[in-house]
Amino acid sequence: MIPVILSGGSGTRLWPLSRAKKPKQFLALLNDKSMLQNTLLRLKGLENLTAPMLICNEDHRFMVAEQIRELALGQPTILLEPEGRNTAPAIAVAALQAIADGGDPLLLVLAADHAIKDIPAFHRAVELAIPAAEQGKLVTFGIVPTSAHTGYGYIRRPDQTKEDITPGVAAVAQFCEKPDLVTAQQFVDSGEYFWNSGMFLFKASCFLAELQQFAPAIVAAAEQSLAQASVDLDFIRLDRTAFAASPSDSIDYAVMEKSANAAMVVLDAGWSDVGSWDALWDVMAKDEQGNASRGDVLLEQCKNSYVNAEERLVAVIGLDDVVVVETKDAVLVANKAQIQGVKSIVARLQSYG
Ligand code: GDD
Ligand code: MG
Repeated sequence: MIPVILSGGSGTRLWPLSRAKKPKQFLALLNDKSMLQNTLLRLKGLENLTAPMLICNEDHRFMVAEQIRELALGQPTILLEPEGRNTAPAIAVAALQAIADGGDPLLLVLAADHAIKDIPAFHRAVELAIPAAEQGKLVTFGIVPTSAHTGYGYIRRPDQTKEDITPGVAAVAQFCEKPDLVTAQQFVDSGEYFWNSGMFLFKASCFLAELQQFAPAIVAAAEQSLAQASVDLDFIRLDRTAFAASPSDSIDYAVMEKSANAAMVVLDAGWSDVGSWDALWDVMAKDEQGNASRGDVLLEQCKNSYVNAEERLVAVIGLDDVVVVETKDAVLVANKAQIQGVKSIVARLQSYG
């Protein structure tokens, strides 16, 4: 089983800390290790794992290599994308490379920027998923939803009368990526849906066969970009022109919504995709007043707040439910309940160029 770590996202909702040069997955947000390093360390104890395969933007290659080197996990395979084309092409390249390296291994596809509290529970879910993946299923890890979040995929399992494919693994009756709010609310109210965690387990060939059926142009571009790749130090640099020819699409839209072979195991392990500052506050250790902080921070009469000081001492007095993130060149001060506004700020900054 090969861990395939998707490390090419931009993590813009954690502005101003997460930036194009150093997006969320490379930041130490939860402890003294980066999100990517935590993703790799979380695998320790799983059996039959090989060295990981990472796929990231070429601009981040030295940061990725350095962060892995610090963990001394053996020689990883690092695939470099000239530009992001979303997760379907990235996983296609990883699957093709895995097969080229020999055999038809299971790929444990993981996002590089998630948090999981209960690691033994995560391992148990992966172990439950293995027999179904060996049988050709594309197994996702479903989370019991706590809100009608529109940034997730939603998975419905068949009713309880249907037998599991293998113990603990059910077929997917419906997969709906990022529904609108009304639909998401209906899904949650029905009690029949799970969130897609964005982690997957399948055989390399099974994923490629599904992708070939639903998005052959992605497979063709992935094959070309790998056939014409150059090996540069410890990196496999995908061919720029060939890779850029790939349609940009996520595994969720390109495959999971359409596949008849999708399956799901429930993951109850304190999972969070740490998709925003309030989500990070949620998973962090807090003081008695419910404040989570990082760096040089002084708080007086504050409650339920998140304060992050990168460069300077930050003092906050008498505020509840705020987010304060201080960096060298930008400071964010926000009401925690309206933190989704970071998206509009980032959009405005991008439109300034
Ligand atoms: N290599 C590479 N190239 N990695 C990428 C790219 C890319 O072009 N785009 C995204 N990634 C990485 C991100 O860094 C992250 O680790 C992972 O792939 C998922 O991408 P996101 O962009 O974070 O996806 P999402 O959060 O909108 O949606 C996915 O995750 C949700 C759970 O957090 C979907 O799988 C949803 O269905 C799911 O609910
Ligand atoms: Mg995400």
